Amino acid sequence: MSLAGLFLITFLLVHLGINLLVILNDDPMVFNKAAHFMGTNKLIKVFEIILFAGFLLHIIYALILQVQNWLARPHRYSKMTRSETSAFSRWMIHTAVIVLTFLVIHLVDFYFKAKFGHVGSTPEPGVHDLATLILEKFEIPGYVIFYIAAFIFLGFHLIHGFQSAFKTLGINNKSYTPIIQVLSILYTVIVVGGFTAIPLVIYFQ
Ligand code: HEM
Repeated sequence: MSLAGLFLITFLLVHLGINLLVILNDDPMVFNKAAHFMGTNKLIKVFEIILFAGFLLHIIYALILQVQNWLARPHRYSKMTRSETSAFSRWMIHTAVIVLTFLVIHLVDFYFKAKFGHVGSTPEPGVHDLATLILEKFEIPGYVIFYIAAFIFLGFHLIHGFQSAFKTLGINNKSYTPIIQVLSILYTVIVVGGFTAIPLVIYFQ
């Protein structure tokens, strides 16, 4: 589960880097060509299969762990005491459900539209105009709010997930843990901040 999580963590950085081209470059073709490359390159197609397998594995393991936890303690504590775990860790399954719901809507809106040709074309043969699709979506205030809310929950999920993945892999001691904690905060701020900037910049431009 942690290896799949770390793979998804890496995917998010790559996905963010490419999507930022929409707001960092005035020419939409720069993003369109990058997205086209990502969608057609043979090596990246293999990674796409690993990505979806990673998502599936991550979700299945999370469900198994959650059910095991519930079965281990079928009755709730009669008296709640302060837990050693952080709020982020206690809410992992809830933030996961929110992120998964976002992901399904996101894939229907972008990925499947691109795959099944419901996106405008560009002067370059085979290159879809995904940039215009993104620009049109983020003109809708409700859509912008929904995306930003999802990114905040994604941040809650990532901040604990990042640290937890290293802990599960045994990289957890007095010298490494503080570094991993700082890295997890840095990573989350970059990912949530970067993704949030996209709808905000498009909406207010
Ligand atoms: C402003 C933020 C985002 C924008 C503009 C965006 C845009 C896109 C677009 C245009 C595609 C289709 C690419 C193609 O098929 O060629 C896509 C695919 C995808 N997105 Fe996003 N995305 C955003 C955030 C996210 C987030 C936060 C996640 C994960 C939690 C995510 C997960 C995915 C996945 C799994 C795919 C399918 C795999 C792929 O094509 O790379 N996206 N996204």
